[in-house]
Formats: sequence, structure tokens, C-alpha cells
Amino acid sequence: MAKSKHILLVIGGGIAAYKAAELIRLIRKSGMTVRCVLTESGAQFVTPMTLAALSENEVHTTLWSLKDETEMGHIQLSREADLIVICPATANLLAKMAGGIADDLATTLLLATNRPVLAVPAMNVRMWQHAATQRNIAQLKTDGIIVMQPDEGDMACGEFGPGRLPEPDVVMAEIASLLRSPFLTGAGSLQSELGPNPLDGQPAFAPDQHRPLHGKHVLVTAGPTHEPIDPVRYIANRSSGRQGFAIAAAAADAGARVTLVAGPVHLPTPAGVMRVDVETAIEMEKAVLDALPADVAIMVAAVADWRADSQSGQKIKKEGAAPAPLKLTENPDILAGLARHDQRPGLLIGFAAETEKISEHAKAKLEKKSCDWIVANDVSGPIGESVMGGTDNSVHIVTGSGTEIWERLPKMEVARRLVAKIGKEIS
Ligand code: CTP
Repeated sequence: MAKSKHILLVIGGGIAAYKAAELIRLIRKSGMTVRCVLTESGAQFVTPMTLAALSENEVHTTLWSLKDETEMGHIQLSREADLIVICPATANLLAKMAGGIADDLATTLLLATNRPVLAVPAMNVRMWQHAATQRNIAQLKTDGIIVMQPDEGDMACGEFGPGRLPEPDVVMAEIASLLRSPFLTGAGSLQSELGPNPLDGQPAFAPDQHRPLHGKHVLVTAGPTHEPIDPVRYIANRSSGRQGFAIAAAAADAGARVTLVAGPVHLPTPAGVMRVDVETAIEMEKAVLDALPADVAIMVAAVADWRADSQSGQKIKKEGAAPAPLKLTENPDILAGLARHDQRPGLLIGFAAETEKISEHAKAKLEKKSCDWIVANDVSGPIGESVMGGTDNSVHIVTGSGTEIWERLPKMEVARRLVAKIGKEIS
């Protein structure tokens, strides 16, 4: 069995420190282990006892514990984690890190580490917007620290604006996405490219160059929709959702915050992806609009073109010889609606399921739906061997500048290539 991942959580001194308790719970729930380092000011907001109870691990608060320096010195502490997370990262802590100051346990291990570091800032809006903080953030990013964007909203201090700590589930999604990233761990990763000891004059991790969708919100639809006729029957199609789920996973691996609006499918949610389950085209449209704004939208779902004009509240019975006629009405075109929306994503990608004249039909769809790219699948072929519902795909990518054809590939590989192409386009 694979070794479970280990997080070192540094808790700075801010009112948002209480949210670290929920983050510990989420980290544990996902099967990872966590060890906490609490700064002196952090201890004004949460107690070591709470953190120890939740993490089921010793909590470290001081550099000057002889017991620790022999058994678990700050260097070892800083090297044993798969990822170091600073949550909340205060303006003071970020400033010290940017200046290379090491005057307590947290700052010393952050200077000594060779592990990737994720900082989750939380502070008053003016402190966040101050030129000094922004300068420090820019420096930290250059140094290879991954810095999450704080949320915007009402603050504990009564002001409004950016600076709030993102919710613990969003931080958890970022952690999961980082740990899944091929750029962070494993063969061919950035870390292995950098060699075993990045302290030898190299930054430990350079996310912005190597995780091409870092900081972007990517919206993906996947799967079929089910359009009810009566309580037991519905109109559907053969879409399995595999291609859309693979794209959502690849986008998360590339550092994006991903919202996946999924029709009824039996697939596990990719790590680090925020999933919204829907049943019908109308529900899918609402979930898509609720998820805006997005930098990129990839509409992979096979939305049912029609729904029953009226839905029977009771099961329709066989009455007489002739079957009851089924009257249909057209569903909204979610993709075309998004193209006209005033929050239209910067890059809008549609899919097309075609059985003949693939590129020709895809070009027509690109124009008709005013999107930027169409990824057309050849869904011809006998049931059971077709792309629809299968594990492989062969696609034609139609853009304003031409058509590329990718011959039969596993859907995950199509997803990786597509995400790499998106990364290039929006960089
Ligand atoms: N789409 C959508 N809403 C719909 C129908 C389709 O958002 N009501 C999106 C799909 O998610 C896909 C693209 O439009 O990205 C094309 O879907 P497809 O089913 O191939 O095209 P249709 O518009 O249904 O055209 P046709 O069935 O006539 O080929």
C-alpha cells in the first residue's frame, strides 16, 4: 500500500487560526497525517491542546526545546513532510519569509526546508493590499512558494475586501491538487528535475512556470443528462463522463481550481476537484451559471437536446393498444448561452459528438455556438466499441487557426494534452 502523505501545518497568529482546526480534520479525513507548528502569536488564538487532539500528534511551538533538537530537530521537522502548509499565513510571517528571517521555530524551518510550501494568507484588507505585502508576495512566488489568493468578503475587523482565509475545504482541495500534481512528486516531477537537494542554490519549487493553470478557475461539464418522463423513466444517452472527469483531473493536476458539473455517472471525484452533481439539462445550466466567473470552461457533457414537454407525476400506464405519444421540448443550449454571457470565460471550449464528416460538422458548431475551440469525437462504431462509454478517444481539435487530429488515445492522455494546450493558450 502507498505510504500516506504527510503535511506539516504552520499556524500563524490571526483570527482565522481557528479554521486550522477544521483543516486538520479534513486532512486527517482524507487519509493523510499532519503535524502542527504553532507560532507564539498563533497560540493566542488556538491552543496546542486542540491541535494535538485533532492531529493526534505532538504540537511544536519552540525552537529551544532540547528534547526536540535531539529527537526531532527543526531541520528534520522541515524535511519529513510531503508539503508544508502555512495557514493562516499572516502579513508578518510572509514578510519574515520574504526577508529570509529565522527568529522562531516556524520561520527557521521554513528557511531550512527543501519541501514545497503552500502559504494561505489571511489578514486585514489594507494589510493585504499594502505595497509591502504585495512586494513580499511577489518575492515569495519568485522564490517558489505557492501562495493562495485570499477570499473577498466581510472581515472579522468589520471591513470588506480581499484578505479572508479561503474556506478549509478550498484549502484542502488545493493541498490534494498539489499532492497529485506530477510537477510536485514522483518521477519526472519538478522536484526530481531539481535533484534531491534543492537547497544547493536552487529554488525548491517554481509552481507558476511548471503548473500552467495555477491560480485559474476551470469549469468542466461531464456526463449525460437525464430528462424524466415520469417517476421511473427518463431520456438519456450513452455518455460515461470519463472524458470530462479526466479533463477535470488533469486541470487540477496543472494547478487549476476546478468546478466539475457532473450529470448522473458512477465515477469517483478526482482529488482536488469541486464537484456539483446534477440530473437534468436545466439543473446543469443553473450549476454552470452559479460557478461563474471562470477563466476556462470546457463543456464536455452530452446534454440531452430535448426533454419531455410535461412530466407525469405518476408512472404512465399502458392503456389500450397505442402507446402514449411523447411530446418533447428543446433544452437550453448551455454552451451557446455561456458564449453570450457577460461573464463569458476567456477560453470557451465545446465538445462535439459526431458520427460523420467530423471536422466539417465541428467547424460549423464552432461558429454556431461562438466558442473558441471545438473538440470533436468520432462516436461512430457499433455500440460497445464506440468512443461514447469507452476508455479511448480520437479527437479533432478545431480552433480559429486550424484543425489538429489526435488519433486514438486513452481519455486521460487526451485530457493531459488538452490541458497542456490550454496552458499554452492562456499563458
Ligand atoms: N451543449 C450544451 N447544451 C445543449 C447541447 C449541447 O451545452 N443543450 C454543448 C455540449 O456540452 C458540447 C456542445 O454543446 O460541448 C456540442 O454538443 P453536441 O451534442 O455535439 O451538439 P448539439 O448542439 O446537440 O448539436 P447536434 O446534436 O445537432 O449535433
